Amino acid sequence: MKALTWHGKRDVRVDDVPDPVIQEPNDAIIRVTTTAICGSDLHLYEVLGMFMGEGATLGHEPMGIVEEVGTGVTHVQPGDRVVIPFTICCGHCWMCDRGFQSQCETTQVRGQGLGAALFGFSKLYGGVPGAQAEYLRVPQANYMAIKVPEGPPDERFVYLSDVLPTSWQAVEYASIPEGGTVAVFGLGPMGQMSSRIALQKGHRVIGVDLVPERLEMARSFGIEVLNEDDHGNLPDVIREMTDGRGPDAVIDAVGMEAHGSPGGMLAQTITGRQGDPLRTPVMERAGTDRLNVLYKAIDTVRRAGVITLIGHYDGGMSDPMPMLKLFDKQIQLRMGQANVKRWVDDIMPLLTDEDVLGVESFATHRLPLEEAPLGYEIFRRKLDGAMKILLKP
Ligand SMILES: NC(=O)c1ccc[n+]([C@@H]2O[C@H](COP(=O)([O-])OP(=O)(O)OC[C@H]3O[C@@H](n4cnc5c(N)ncnc54)[C@H](O)[C@@H]3O)[C@@H](O)[C@H]2O)c1
Ligand SMILES: [Zn+2]
Ligand SMILES: [Zn+2]
Repeated sequence: MKALTWHGKRDVRVDDVPDPVIQEPNDAIIRVTTTAICGSDLHLYEVLGMFMGEGATLGHEPMGIVEEVGTGVTHVQPGDRVVIPFTICCGHCWMCDRGFQSQCETTQVRGQGLGAALFGFSKLYGGVPGAQAEYLRVPQANYMAIKVPEGPPDERFVYLSDVLPTSWQAVEYASIPEGGTVAVFGLGPMGQMSSRIALQKGHRVIGVDLVPERLEMARSFGIEVLNEDDHGNLPDVIREMTDGRGPDAVIDAVGMEAHGSPGGMLAQTITGRQGDPLRTPVMERAGTDRLNVLYKAIDTVRRAGVITLIGHYDGGMSDPMPMLKLFDKQIQLRMGQANVKRWVDDIMPLLTDEDVLGVESFATHRLPLEEAPLGYEIFRRKLDGAMKILLKP
């Protein structure tokens, strides 16, 4: 089959790779009909690629049709239309039982000291072949496969794999009080959907980015927007808009590749654990530099407020944190990979009748799998008004 594989920094190619096969009774194989490119793929494309290994398949936001199932699979059968969460989880361990599917104790990547395995996320997360491919092997299929109705186009449901549950979790974890305000830093796919969900829940939303089309898209949804480039001291500007106090919560949907960071090309270690095989210098920027947006979030949020991080700061544990300020302001920090399955039942009603979140018009680009390398470049450079890029294998 054809798959999008990693070959080096900013070098991905569509190669022929072996078709996936059923390996465990609880596996399914799906034929991928739509799969998306995510901000997380950009980390692997840019700086974390060395953990991919040459020829590894990327991607973790698929939907498609079940082709084949293992002997233990009863929940789905060939022909079913399904979405697959990016976090691989069993649905019956201690963590899954408590709604922490991204910490699943069945799939945890213990060798790396990390949480649940993820599709297409490098050796760090289990080395599981990714979903930017014609076919995908789905482990734990009885729990993982989310059946979706026939009829509406794939665009309605594909974001259940990551964007919507991740955004939903960010808003839930932000614990915004009734009538409260949330500031969302970063209006890429994650920030856009977090903003729409918060608005839908009745909150006031202030969105920040520096890409004009992204600001415009948010504005057209009723979100108040600020261009990071236009304001010297953003936290002050947002405080002024919120009675001098700051918003009840801040969602950081930027992550480690923040723009406008000062500083140079210092190496960063991937984890701080002694004797760790991953203690490799990989990052191109200094820790303080990459934390630029998080610092702004800490400054901006009101006292006793909540910050949720969607953005990955997967660069290391040695980043200096402003502990005094966090402590003094009594800030709660919440973060983590999305517990996708936990939120699916809450989100589904917003997708099945009216398109409340505007998902059908969210993708700006639909490309055949063969053009995936071009898709990565368009998304990375935010060319041509790119927001979400869908691949159609
Ligand atoms: N927690 C999870 O489960 C999870 C899941 C998927 C993605 N992610 C992470 O979420 C983050 C966002 O993903 P995305 O798909 O929206 O990608 P993206 O890269 O398109 O979005 C980032 C946005 O931040 C903006 N930005 C950059 N610097 C900024 C600054 N200084 N101030 C304000 N905005 C700034 C960019 O212009 C861009 O619009 C990534 O770090 C990704 O890895 C987390
Ligand atoms: Zn993703
Ligand atoms: Zn589990």
